[in-house]
Amino acid sequence: MSTLLAISAVIAAPSQYAGCDISAASMPMPANQTQLTLPSGALSFIALGVGVQNYTCSSAGNYTNIGAVAEVFDISCLYGTPAFHSIQNTAYDVWDKAPPSMTAQSVISMLSDLPVKMWDFTSAAYAGNAAAYAVGAKTGDMVSPDGAVDVDWLQLKVVKGALASTVYRMNTVAGQLPGSCSPGDTTVQSVKYTSKYYFFGGSIKQ
Ligand SMILES: *[C@@H]1O[C@H](CO)[C@@H](O)[C@H](O)[C@H]1NC(C)=O
Ligand SMILES: *[C@@H]1O[C@H](CO)[C@@H](O)[C@H](O)[C@H]1NC(C)=O
Ligand SMILES: *[C@@H]1O[C@H](CO)[C@@H](O)[C@H](O)[C@H]1NC(C)=O
Repeated sequence: MSTLLAISAVIAAPSQYAGCDISAASMPMPANQTQLTLPSGALSFIALGVGVQNYTCSSAGNYTNIGAVAEVFDISCLYGTPAFHSIQNTAYDVWDKAPPSMTAQSVISMLSDLPVKMWDFTSAAYAGNAAAYAVGAKTGDMVSPDGAVDVDWLQLKVVKGALASTVYRMNTVAGQLPGSCSPGDTTVQSVKYTSKYYFFGGSIKQ
């Protein structure tokens, strides 16, 4: 399972890919924002993240993000299909209603009307490509333009791994935990979210 922290991200990748070349595709950027910079290099992969954002109560009595865990699925072959635009919403609707015992993989397999297979970046089938991962450090952070309940959009500079040189977390759905809490309460609250991830550069191609 990939660990995607608020400040850094470790993303494992397949050694076998969906096989769709998206190097001519582009990532939509919100107009008039200054927090994220346009990427250099070609798009290598687009992925769907299905996971949780974790929070505990701060001494100030509000929730502080302490990390996140997500399964990341290669959706490059969805690019240009009608399902692509809202895949994160489609996946969230299923994930949100899923019982606690249901894994992210099960959620993905329930989206059975999708026209392509989505590769699980973390499954055992992809083991063996030692460089196919990315460790990122946050270089940009913007509040989601879609709504206050959605976790921030991020830009991550890859500091280790050959999967990409820059990774963006975009089009987030849910994951925020607003409101007040009891200072000192160390209970970890996990809030489900989905998002798209865009991977630029790197030496591992579709
Ligand atoms: C972006 O800024 C320009 C110039 O100020 C403005 O005309 C345009 O409406 C803005 N677009 C959005 C989506 O806010
Ligand atoms: C928590 O509350 C403190 C004090 O009011 C504030 O400075 C901080 O930004 C808040 N943090 C979050 C995550 O809302
Ligand atoms: C987040 O919470 C989940 C339980 O919902 C747990 O499995 C996971 O280890 C936690 N990860 C982090 C980084 O906090």
